[in-house]
Amino acid sequence: MSIISKDIQKAVALLTDDKLVAIPTETVYGLAGNIYSEKAIKCIFETKKRPFFNPLIVHIPSKEALESIVSYIPEKAKLLADAFWPGSMTLVLKKQSSIPDIITAGKDTVAVRVPNHPVTLELLNELPFPLAAPSANPFGSISPTKPEHVERYFKDDIEQVLDGGSCNNGIESTIIGFENDEPVVYRLGALALEEIETVVGKVKIKNRKEINPDAPGMLERHYAPSTLTVLSKNVIEDLKNYSGKRIGVLIFKSAIESDVIQKQIILSETGSFQEATSKLYDALHELDKQNLDVIIAEIFPDYGLGKSINDRLQRAAYSS
Ligand code: TXA
Ligand code: MG
Repeated sequence: MSIISKDIQKAVALLTDDKLVAIPTETVYGLAGNIYSEKAIKCIFETKKRPFFNPLIVHIPSKEALESIVSYIPEKAKLLADAFWPGSMTLVLKKQSSIPDIITAGKDTVAVRVPNHPVTLELLNELPFPLAAPSANPFGSISPTKPEHVERYFKDDIEQVLDGGSCNNGIESTIIGFENDEPVVYRLGALALEEIETVVGKVKIKNRKEINPDAPGMLERHYAPSTLTVLSKNVIEDLKNYSGKRIGVLIFKSAIESDVIQKQIILSETGSFQEATSKLYDALHELDKQNLDVIIAEIFPDYGLGKSINDRLQRAAYSS
């Protein structure tokens, strides 16, 4: 018998008792419940204030467990699962009839992934059921990448935040669906498009409007700070539009010399997309706490993880 930590034992007990536990993953923290417990799943929606038409992601311990969740696996889905699981990729596939409608919002497909975090993999291996886990934030707000972000949101609502440190990847998984057995990207995310394409060739990115509201991560305004957020190709230039205001700046790699900036966060001084991605949400949380009038966020180069970061920045800024 494996020796499991007290924290994991506690999580197993709570989840078995239809309760929720916040779990660490390599992307963001999730608000987890037993997929077969109607009570737990309803509680996820209520706690997040998430509309019921938004389906949840099912988290499984290994790719072998996929067969008990989905009824059909296209060849390219197998290739992707082999290449990237455990990891930051979610596959949307035809569901087994045993998967409750409340998980899939009545759709005949289910979103599923094997997260790449040792604590949560151990937890999933201990449990006799998979976990549904949306990001552990109120609907529409910035996703949590540290235990304290979850606590700030839900301290009074959940009994346990399973501590797995800071999330290495820092933005949500890349979601891939299938049309005529061909992969289609529904949500850009922590696994870069180019990496996916090395395994299955060119993939289509589904336009946000086409899948709205099927994938609510695709809603225009999402992942958003409460502070007005604007995007900028030239931050120094755009500072002039906010004279006299309390300005925060989110910048990719090079600090801006200016005394009108209240708080500036640099995402990666070495210019690493990976580092910038992992720090993105924490930086937004931090800036959002500063009582600023505006956050000016620098637009990233539009390739690799830069493209995924731009996607999140656009939604943070959308008509805010
Ligand atoms: O990285 C992640 O994916 C994190 C961690 C916790 O695993 N989870 C996450 O879950 O981001 P959530 O609920 O915040 O986003 C789930 C996304 C939504 O945009 C939802 O619409 C989409 O998955 N989704 C779920 N089921 C779907 C389906 N059957 N068809 C299309 N999209 C689906
Ligand atoms: Mg979310």
